[in-house]
Amino acid sequence: MKIAVIGTGYVGLTTGACLAEIGHDIIGNDIDEQKIAKLKKGICPIFEAGLPELLTKHLKSGRLSFTTSIKDSIKDAEAIFICVGTPPKKDGSPDLSFIEQVMKDIGANLKHYAVIVEKSTVPVQTAQWMKSLLAKHLKTDFDVAVNPEFLREGTSVHDFLHPDRIVIGTETAKAEKVMSAVYAPIKAPIMHTNLESAELIKHASNSFLSAKISFANMVSQLCEKTNADIKTVMDGVGMDKRIGRDFLNAGLGYGGFCFPKDVDAFISVLKKHKVDASLLEAVVEINEAQRAHVVDIAKELLGSLKNKTIAVLGLAFKPNTDDVRLSPACLLIEDLQKQGAKIRSTDPEALENAKKILKNVTYCKDAYETAEGADLLILATEWSDFKTMDLKKLKVKKFIDARNVFNPVEMKKLGFEYRSIGRK
Ligand code: UGA
Repeated sequence: MKIAVIGTGYVGLTTGACLAEIGHDIIGNDIDEQKIAKLKKGICPIFEAGLPELLTKHLKSGRLSFTTSIKDSIKDAEAIFICVGTPPKKDGSPDLSFIEQVMKDIGANLKHYAVIVEKSTVPVQTAQWMKSLLAKHLKTDFDVAVNPEFLREGTSVHDFLHPDRIVIGTETAKAEKVMSAVYAPIKAPIMHTNLESAELIKHASNSFLSAKISFANMVSQLCEKTNADIKTVMDGVGMDKRIGRDFLNAGLGYGGFCFPKDVDAFISVLKKHKVDASLLEAVVEINEAQRAHVVDIAKELLGSLKNKTIAVLGLAFKPNTDDVRLSPACLLIEDLQKQGAKIRSTDPEALENAKKILKNVTYCKDAYETAEGADLLILATEWSDFKTMDLKKLKVKKFIDARNVFNPVEMKKLGFEYRSIGRK
C-alpha cells in the first residue's frame, strides 16, 4: 500500500520505517527542511535502537522516501498518518495548531479517497474536529481513523512490530478495511472501536501507567518509615495477575515527553467535561514530590547543599534514549542547583541534548570521572553502564540510588553511606 506519514519525530519516523519494513511504500513528510535533507541521506536524527538500520535498508529498497511537500507525499496515498507534535500549552491542554495546519494542507491538496489517520496523542473528540476541518476544504470522499501508538522510546521499533494490541478507531467499513490492510502483516490482536474510544484508550493507558508509578512511589515513602522494602512489596503486589509487576518501580518519578504531557492533557480533558480529575492530580503531585524527596535525602546526607559538589549519573529521562525532555534527572539537577549545589554529570547518549537545556554543569566522560571530588553521588537514570560500573573505583562515599539499582546490604559492605528509595 502507498502510505504518507506526516511528521518525522519519534513517532512518525518509527511508524514510517516500520510500515516500510512490513511491506508498504512510504513517503515521510516534514516541514523541517534540514531534517528531511538528513533523512534522505540516511542520517537518523534520533537515538533509537534499530531505527538507523531500517532507515538505510528501506531507502535502499525504495520503500521509504522523504519530502517536504505535502502535495507530493499524499499524491497516491491510500492512508495518511498524522504524526505531528501536540506540545502542551501553559494550561496543560495540547496545542493542536500543527494538526490544524496539516488538515488545511491536506484539504487543499488531496484529490482522491484516502483515510486520514490520527496517530498523534490528542484529546477525545479531536478526530471529529479534524473531520469537520477536512470537510470544509475537501471535494473528494475521505474517512478519518484513530490509531494510537503505544511505542516506548528506546524500544519503539520492537514495540511497533510486536505490539500487545493494535487499536483502530473508524466510522465506516471502507476505512476499517484500509486500516486492517495496513496492519495485516503484523501478528497482534486488532481492536476495532469508534473514533472516540480509540482516542480515550491512549490517554487512559498513559495515565494509568503514570498512576501505577506514583502509587509505587507513595508506598515507597511508607516503606521508608516502617522498615518495609518497596521492591519486595511491589514484587508481592505485582504477582497478582490482575495488577502485574510492570511500572511499579519506585524512584525519581516518571518523565519524558509523553507521561507528564499526557496526564496533564487528560486532566484538562476531564475538567473540560466536568469529570473529577483529583485522582490524576494526585498522581502528578506525588511525581513532583518524589524529586523533592531525593533533594531532602541529599540534605540529610550533606546538611546544606550550598557549594557542595554533587555527581549525577544519567541525564536522559530513562535508559536507552538520548531524550532529556522533562527528564527527572535534569529537573533534579536544576532543583539541586537552586539549593546552591555544584553539579558534575554524565550520560552515555544524552550529553549533547542536556547541554542545550542545563546551565553550569561540568560534563564528564564516565561515572568514575563524574564521581571525582564529589561530596555525593546520585544515580538518576539506570543505564546499564552504571548498573555494571566498578563500584570500588568510585571515589565518593555518599551515594543516593534514586533508581533502586543496587543491593543496600552490599553497598553498605562496600563502605558507602548508601540511600535508596523505599528501602533500608
Ligand atoms: C510511554 C508509554 O510507555 C508508551 O506506551 C507510549 O506510547 C509513550 O509513552 C507515548 O505516549 O508516546 P515512554 O515515554 O517512551 O513511553 O517511556 P516509558 O518507558 O513508559 O517510561 C516513562 C517514564 O516512567 C520514565 O521516566 C521511566 O523512568 C518512568 N518509570 C517507568 C518509572 O519511574 N517506574 C517504572 O516502574 C516505569
